[in-house]
Amino acid sequence: MHATIVLLAGDGIGPEIVAEATRVLRAIGTTWGHTFSFEEALIGGSAIDATGEALPGDTLARCRRADAILLGAVGGPRWDNPNATVRPEMGLLAIRKELGLFANIRPVTVQPSLVDSSPLKAERLRGVDLVIVRELTGGIYFGEQGRGPLPGGGERAFDTCVYTTAEVERVVRVAALLARRRQRRLTSVDKANVLTTSRLWRSVATRVVHDEFPDITLNHILVDACAMHLMRSPADFDVIVTENMFGDILTDEASMLAGSLGMLPSASLGDAGSGPTRMGLYEPIHGSAPDLAGRGVANPFGTILSAAMLLRHSLQLEAEALAVEEAVSETIDDGILTADLVEPGARAATTHEVGEAVVAALGG
Ligand code: IPM
Ligand code: MG
Repeated sequence: MHATIVLLAGDGIGPEIVAEATRVLRAIGTTWGHTFSFEEALIGGSAIDATGEALPGDTLARCRRADAILLGAVGGPRWDNPNATVRPEMGLLAIRKELGLFANIRPVTVQPSLVDSSPLKAERLRGVDLVIVRELTGGIYFGEQGRGPLPGGGERAFDTCVYTTAEVERVVRVAALLARRRQRRLTSVDKANVLTTSRLWRSVATRVVHDEFPDITLNHILVDACAMHLMRSPADFDVIVTENMFGDILTDEASMLAGSLGMLPSASLGDAGSGPTRMGLYEPIHGSAPDLAGRGVANPFGTILSAAMLLRHSLQLEAEALAVEEAVSETIDDGILTADLVEPGARAATTHEVGEAVVAALGG
């Protein structure tokens, strides 16, 4: 097949990890006879430096025309001025919103060879295989916000959390469809004992699953209890669906099951279209790690696994996606690991060495 993939390397370690994931996609193209055209475009802090905007119009136009987007990370201390009117993260939020990518799928799997990299006891990690579906274009990330001085001194700031029935319905459907292809267990996470948006969330989730997915077992759990259960009995979860900010927090927590924040990939999807490809944005769940940038030490596995999700969800190339995932497992089993994953005292591989090893494993 032919596909156009936009590369949004972004800031910090973004360019290094995207380079390795692109190398893996090129190798897949060559071996499996696909022509992938790659187009680079600016987002985040590097886009602010070049154009003054975090998501330049040209980047958005290219993304709209593309079959899929691979993104590294945005942000860094350079653009952290609290008085700045434009911030790198605004580019990421804008592209998610503009492209209608409301469902963010974050799978959490434990590679057997990485059990010792996790801070959790090995026995808790047995059987862990879960997916967190995070709502991505609503909630407190996109509600009205403001900040201003108070007459008596000090300031007042606010962020608002808003959800509509339709927003909850569509993301719950994505999660339930996913659960249907897995163990048919869905956990909806909210804070319904405190938040009105959570009470709406809970009632909509209950109705959608009851009416449309009678084969799925749904349960509800409060977000604080979920955070605890993820550490105590992570193997109990199958698919988790939750709102934007809870999903952000729980996925960083869940990455510790996989051994490192650098391991988790993600796919951000909108409504399924009718064509052979489906627009999606693929990115590791971690940030731009400015302290690691330019040193060749960042973990590229999360980005390479995001490229596998791109093959699967946007290009419908399931066999190719599996080939990448198997090559990643083989590389890990061979002990080719970045500094965040190696045992103390062992030699760490560079970002580039990991990319090369995955490509070599694909050929073997
Ligand atoms: C993520 C990140 C982003 C988010 C930041 C960089 C805006 O933490 O994708 O999880 O909060 O969505
Ligand atoms: Mg996050």
